[in-house]
Amino acid sequence: MMKAAICTGYGSADVVRIVDVPKPVPGDYDILIRVRATTVTSGDWRIRSLEMPPGFGLIARLIFGITKPRQPILGSEVAGEVEAVGKDVSKFRVGDRVVAFDGLGLRCHAEFKCIRQSGNGGRIPDQLGFTTAAALPFGGTTAMDFLRRVGLTAGEKILVIGASGSVGSAAVQLARHQGAQVTGVCSAANVEMVSSLGAERVIDYGKEDVTSLDPNFDVVMETVGALNLTQALRLLRSGGRAAMIAGGLSDMLTGSWKSKSRGFKAVVGPAAEKQEDLQEIVALAAKGIFRPVIEHTYAFEQIAEAHRRVQQRRKRGNLVITLA
Ligand SMILES: NC(=O)c1ccc[n+]([C@@H]2O[C@H](COP(=O)([O-])OP(=O)(O)OC[C@H]3O[C@@H](n4cnc5c(N)ncnc54)[C@H](OP(=O)(O)O)[C@@H]3O)[C@@H](O)[C@H]2O)c1
Repeated sequence: MMKAAICTGYGSADVVRIVDVPKPVPGDYDILIRVRATTVTSGDWRIRSLEMPPGFGLIARLIFGITKPRQPILGSEVAGEVEAVGKDVSKFRVGDRVVAFDGLGLRCHAEFKCIRQSGNGGRIPDQLGFTTAAALPFGGTTAMDFLRRVGLTAGEKILVIGASGSVGSAAVQLARHQGAQVTGVCSAANVEMVSSLGAERVIDYGKEDVTSLDPNFDVVMETVGALNLTQALRLLRSGGRAAMIAGGLSDMLTGSWKSKSRGFKAVVGPAAEKQEDLQEIVALAAKGIFRPVIEHTYAFEQIAEAHRRVQQRRKRGNLVITLA
């Protein structure tokens, strides 16, 4: 048996309970990871609470369970040690330090987690600890995927709305690393932090109305849901691109047509979660080029506290959960 945090139903953080469940058994091509660190992400909050971007409520119930989460153990990213391997595993050995990202596979809020050896995971370089490694995949690979899909290039101007969150803080660093001129948007409390990540200009949304900025951005990356697609397109120069990371169903269905007809491009929908992206993020972190922002580290027993914090939609970067 093992301890796992389960969601007993959809609802507030009070539905989260730590209970004993059967320990997973690795199949022939699986590795069993002893989890040392995991995170509570905005994705976990969305599944637990069913608070989805506009239009996705019913779709989410079909995917995650009609009346309660079909997979009650949430969590999409882990860092830990390989405890056991299936008989046909050749890429990993017992004792390897690994990080993994298992988007919809979930089951990371537990003492043990199985992934396929060919799944989205890899070794943790010596320079990185478990806490840092666990906070790399969700924000880092989401930001990397959307930046690639909007084709950001050196010298371009990008506006990152929600620059202090998990995805936004990663986007600021990656865009800066690519040589872009970054403007970040966050509250006053996070202006200094976003500036330290590489933003040339930081806008405090409490003081300045983002929708009234000059329309001269090559790329707008919206990670909050504060602006709809029409408002984001208004901030672009002709031919600009919008990454609507928290976009609703109507943005997803009409985004391509709405943007093309006005000479723009919109990227909406789920991130690709590619293994190459995780490897690149891990390598950038090992070189000190990318560092995941970690607001707080909680003990596993405090996981409901982390759920409460995510739900406020004000966290700085990532919330890590450590397991002894
Ligand atoms: N499409 C995909 O595949 C995909 C993947 C991952 C995440 N997502 C979605 O992306 C969104 C962001 O995720 P996340 O994990 O980065 O969220 P998060 O870490 O919870 O980020 C919240 C951040 O947004 C900032 N914020 C709140 N209101 C704001 C406003 N009006 N203007 C600017 N910033 C504001 C907060 O900063 P202040 O405290 O400074 O306000 C906070 O730092 C979520 O909706 C998530 O569901 C989508």
